[in-house]
Amino acid sequence: MINQNNNGSKSKPEDRTLDQALRPHAFEEYIGQEKTKANLKILIEAAKKRGEPIDHLLLYGPAGLGKTTLAYIMAREIGANIRITSGPAIEKVGDLASILTNLNSGDVLFIDEAHRLNKSVEEILYPAMENRLLHIIIGKGPSARTLQLDLPPFSLIAATTRVGLLSNPLRSRFGATFRLDFYTLEDIENILRRSAGLMSLQTESDALKEIAVSSRFTPRVANRLLKRVRDYAEVKGEETITRQAAEKALALLEVDRLGLESTDRRLIETIIKKFNGGPVGLQALAAATSEELDTIEDINEPYLLQIGFLQRTPRGRVATKFAYKHLGLTPPPENENLL
Ligand SMILES: Nc1ncnc2c1ncn2[C@@H]1O[C@H](COP(=O)(O)OP(=O)(O)OP(=O)(O)O)[C@@H](O)[C@H]1O
Ligand SMILES: [Mg+2]
Repeated sequence: MINQNNNGSKSKPEDRTLDQALRPHAFEEYIGQEKTKANLKILIEAAKKRGEPIDHLLLYGPAGLGKTTLAYIMAREIGANIRITSGPAIEKVGDLASILTNLNSGDVLFIDEAHRLNKSVEEILYPAMENRLLHIIIGKGPSARTLQLDLPPFSLIAATTRVGLLSNPLRSRFGATFRLDFYTLEDIENILRRSAGLMSLQTESDALKEIAVSSRFTPRVANRLLKRVRDYAEVKGEETITRQAAEKALALLEVDRLGLESTDRRLIETIIKKFNGGPVGLQALAAATSEELDTIEDINEPYLLQIGFLQRTPRGRVATKFAYKHLGLTPPPENENLL
């Protein structure tokens, strides 16, 4: 089955190629997130002056906002090699031990999806982050003994979409933590302009505006929509991408002017129709819509919260009056005063 999802999900190979082709390589190319960039630049500068590796960093925020990109840029700026891995890829303690012992002095170790590190792996990470020590237990039972190895100086950059799932001891070991926010419309337009240039596309600026509006304030989504609109214009034999072409291509993809796609609309509709507007837990919602819980939590929910269509309450998610309105429905009196 073809996955028609237009959201920020990172699992599609098509996305990965596009991600790499359009990925900014330096801070100057990285648009927006000004505060985070300013802080990171200072961190780098200071570390360079002291001749030390940068502090361990934690980057968090919704999918597709540029965490991986930032990690690459950081490594490049400090002239370090970057080793890439992810929480789920490090299954055993031995996997991490081998990654750590293979680091060279000054390397950046990037761990994506850090919230999915398992507990025993995390415990190896603590002394490695704190004192550059690797504790390995050899043998089992009463004869087991611990071996201690010194590690070279390195910097860990961890990324997560779910900072809340990170254990406290892990979180507290980062020298600095940065949250990436959804981009402004202007930033997204600039990102699209840059991407269009890299893809050698002729575009009306109104076309880019149209795409930006539907991009969920997320660079990955913006780039993906640009590519789809490009396909559409190409098939129609249009050399310049016009606003009309963008509008038609987006309509065909069922992406509306708020950037909602069919899955988002189905989620809201389910909350409203099956759960009477909520509150409903995400698990029940996932079961009722046959969507993956992870996707709902990583992709759909952050954006629906951002645009005020959902509210989190202690008892679950509630659809706001804006969500009702968007679907052309009238909220029941008890939801009337929500947002
Ligand atoms: N600030 C930016 N300026 C220009 N392009 C950007 C920016 N941030 C991200 N992008 C584009 O968006 C794509 C997705 O970014 P990236 O892979 O870094 O996101 P991510 O936060 O790591 O996402 P995930 O959480 O899904 O791993 C990149 O390939 C890049 O082309
Ligand atoms: Mg990433």
